[in-house]
Amino acid sequence: MKVDVILGLQWGDEGKGKVVDVLTPNYEIVARFQGGPNAGHTLEFEGQKYILKSIPSGIFQEDKMNIIGNGVVSDPALFKQEVEKLEQTGHKLTDRLLISKKAHLILPTHRLLDSASETEMGVEKIGTTGRGIGPTYTDKISRHGLRVGDLYYNFEEKYKKAVDRHKKILDLHNLEYDLESLEKEWFAGVKKMKQFKVIDSEFHINKHISMGGSVLAEGAQGSLLDIDFGSYPFVTSSNTICAGACTGLGIAPKLIGDVYDIFKAYCTRVGSGPFPTELFCQDGQKLRDNGNEYGSVTGRPRRCGWIDLVALRYTIMINGVNKLVMMKSDVLDSFDTIKACVSYNINGIETGDFPYDITEGITPNYVELPGWKTDMTSMRSEKEFPEEFNNYITFLEEELGVPISIVSVGPDRAQTIIR
Ligand code: GDP
Ligand code: IMO
Ligand code: MG
Repeated sequence: MKVDVILGLQWGDEGKGKVVDVLTPNYEIVARFQGGPNAGHTLEFEGQKYILKSIPSGIFQEDKMNIIGNGVVSDPALFKQEVEKLEQTGHKLTDRLLISKKAHLILPTHRLLDSASETEMGVEKIGTTGRGIGPTYTDKISRHGLRVGDLYYNFEEKYKKAVDRHKKILDLHNLEYDLESLEKEWFAGVKKMKQFKVIDSEFHINKHISMGGSVLAEGAQGSLLDIDFGSYPFVTSSNTICAGACTGLGIAPKLIGDVYDIFKAYCTRVGSGPFPTELFCQDGQKLRDNGNEYGSVTGRPRRCGWIDLVALRYTIMINGVNKLVMMKSDVLDSFDTIKACVSYNINGIETGDFPYDITEGITPNYVELPGWKTDMTSMRSEKEFPEEFNNYITFLEEELGVPISIVSVGPDRAQTIIR
């Protein structure tokens, strides 16, 4: 058995949570491999809507184990809020959620450092989610981080040392803060976190696979936000690509099975940074309205544009995708025509290769296809697809060189068509 991976190919919010939930019945374990509470993964079923931040999206299926992997960064205060919200809706998690000892902790001062850094950058800010993600991964790489396993050994001393170090950095910024109240919330979170089983998740997962078990690895963010291959510096601070599943769970590359890559039938982005196919016209607003494109973590309006096949070909190459999943097709239901960017024009030269820098000077070359002008939200089989929609799928498959295995026509679990 192998580990199948689900990840986003664009700038996040592609609909990963929904697809993990749909595919969970095929696996015994669902494991998040990177990111933290910067993620917002939405699941809708039986008339209920849930937004998960750091808890894997397999959590609603009673007999499945969920693991927060070593590549994840976790904020106990936000973890407590997330768990309690789920508990209030009748979902008991303690037996079904395991946490890696090696996952790094987001301290209250990491959130403050995130905010101080953004304020200092002014108009050049990244537009982060403000959850302390960058400073926590910075500490991980610079070997100053604290991990979940540290909570059990001499923690007070380690915590004080880390916070004293952060305070010295914060003193360089003009930031007012009330650390005491943040710490109160944070330590209450630690208490909650300790109700869960903390494990050596790399052993747990590898043993499970060697005994013939199956694992679904859930990514957060999207490949265009990857620290190495995304639109740097306007990215997140982790490897969101498929390779991140190996480092974020402790599994060998040869154990990777199917790679399900999720993309929207158009494109969105939250936060700052370049976006070649962004629309500032009525079509952009229509995508935002039809797709309810407002961030699930910060509520910010998402920037919207046409699908970018140059970027998708690049992220497909990096991830080694073999199954594509197209989300939010229904958002295009009322468009007369749909555009797809097939190449970039950079200083008069046409290219299909994603360039080093996409900040400026790029004019997208579009192909315009007829829209299907049909409400697809109640469709449950590909036999019902209108001809123009089938043509859109064929066009994308030819351009991207990978089959589209799943099509989503609405936010609900039931609005998913496996081809
Ligand atoms: P994730 O971060 O990749 O899990 O995606 P988000 O949950 O942040 O954003 C996706 C949004 O689109 C959520 O509000 C979903 O409920 C919604 N969604 C998912 N699939 C579809 C779909 O096929 N059609 C529509 N209209 N909405 C969808
Ligand atoms: P999911 O998993 C969309 C964006 C932020 C910002 C940049 C860096 O729901 O797809 P960070 O807080 O990570 O330092 O912010 O990355 N970003 C996301 N955008 N979906 C996400 O997660 C995101 N997580 C971070 O808006 O531009
Ligand atoms: Mg999201």
